[in-house]
Order: sequence, then structure tokens, then C-alpha cells
Amino acid sequence: MSEGLDSAYSIATPADCLRVYRAWAESYDGGFAAGMDYLLPAHVARAFLAAGGAGPVLDIGAGTGLLAERLRGAGFSAPIDGVDLSPEMLERARVKGIYRSLVQADVMQPLPLAGGYGGIVSSGTFTHGHVGPSALPHVLAQARRGAQVALSINAGVFAAMGFDAALAALPITGLQLIEVEIYGQGAALMDPAHASDRALIALFRKG
Ligand SMILES: C[S@@+](CC[C@H](N)C(=O)[O-])C[C@H]1O[C@@H](n2cnc3c(N)ncnc32)[C@H](O)[C@@H]1O
Repeated sequence: MSEGLDSAYSIATPADCLRVYRAWAESYDGGFAAGMDYLLPAHVARAFLAAGGAGPVLDIGAGTGLLAERLRGAGFSAPIDGVDLSPEMLERARVKGIYRSLVQADVMQPLPLAGGYGGIVSSGTFTHGHVGPSALPHVLAQARRGAQVALSINAGVFAAMGFDAALAALPITGLQLIEVEIYGQGAALMDPAHASDRALIALFRKG
């Protein structure tokens, strides 16, 4: 499998995911994120902080660490841990030196972490071919009561994969859905088919 959004959106198994991101990790920041003017990590960071998000934070599908970079860029100084299936993506995040710990794990399964997080964030992970709503209880299990959560969910899968029903069934309070553009103006040149893709940021607290 090659790199790029079409390959990523076609992922069907954890083995596919590992292959796609092994190929994509090296060029993800400089090729994809820069070329597509990838705005989503900044949107999630802004929403989390505006809602009063506190640490320690767990970043779900941390990838190369773009969301933690946006949090640090906004002055957020609490510890940030990350979890991701792809060791190659995690290695890119590790060398940036902004995470307290990075763990390779599948968020579709119960996570091998101690929990107690004051904040949970995620950008770009709940999307086509990636992580579906059945992961939400595993994610929420890592949060302490009252923790602020900010997760992006691709608008194209939100209803189709049942995120609306899954969110309604979770023990959470104050759910807001904020619709944002995933990419900026550069995307029209690089990948017109995906340039206008949108996501919903699900912002809520653990009840
Ligand atoms: C589009 S990237 C987003 C990375 C980063 N959050 C960002 O916004 O740049 C999606 C990430 O989700 C990870 N991922 C996909 N399925 C996963 C799973 N089941 N468990 C953990 N991570 C997963 C991939 O390895 C990849 O790093």
C-alpha cells in the first residue's frame, strides 16, 4: 500500500493500517500536512483549550505529534501522552520531544494505560478506514471524572458509522459538535477530491 489519503481511507484491517503509515510516516508532516494545509490539529487544540481543557492529556492516534505541537504552541505546558498503532508515526512524534510517553496500542481494544487523564484529544483518527465509535468507551475509560474531551470525527462517517448514537449512549455531559474544515487553501492544488472535507469536533466532559 502506498501513502496518501486514498490509501488511508481504504484501510480495512490493523495490518493495512501498519503498512499505510509505515510508508507515510516519513513524508506525513512535510508532504501531506504542509501540502494540504492541514488545519485539523489546530482546530482541536483551540477547541480543547477554549473549553478549559487541563492535563495530563492523552492524544488518541497521536501520529507524528501535530496536535501536541499545536497545544504546546498555544502555551499548554501539562504532560501529554500519546497512543497510536503505528510505531513509525510514533517515532516521528518521539523525536519532537513534546510527549511524556508514547505507547503503541490499538484504541479499538482496552488500552494498556493507567488512566486518570484530565484531558483527552484526538485529530484525524476517527475517520474513513480508521477508528470507529466502538473505541469510544476504551477512550473514555482513560479519563477521570470531569475530564475535558475534544475528538475530531470526519463528517463523512459521523452518522454513517453511528457516532451520533454512540455519543448519546456515553456517560458524558455538555456535548457540543463544532464543524470545521480539515484543510486550508493549499489542499485544492494537492488533492482537490479531499480539499473540502470537513470534520466535527466532539467536545464534552466525562460525567
Ligand atoms: C490521519 S493520522 C492522524 C495523526 C495525528 N493525530 C494528526 O492529526 O496528524 C491517523 C492516525 O491514527 C492511527 N490509527 C489508526 N487506527 C488506529 C488504531 N486502531 N489504534 C491506534 N491508532 C490508530 C494511525 O496510525 C495514524 O497515526
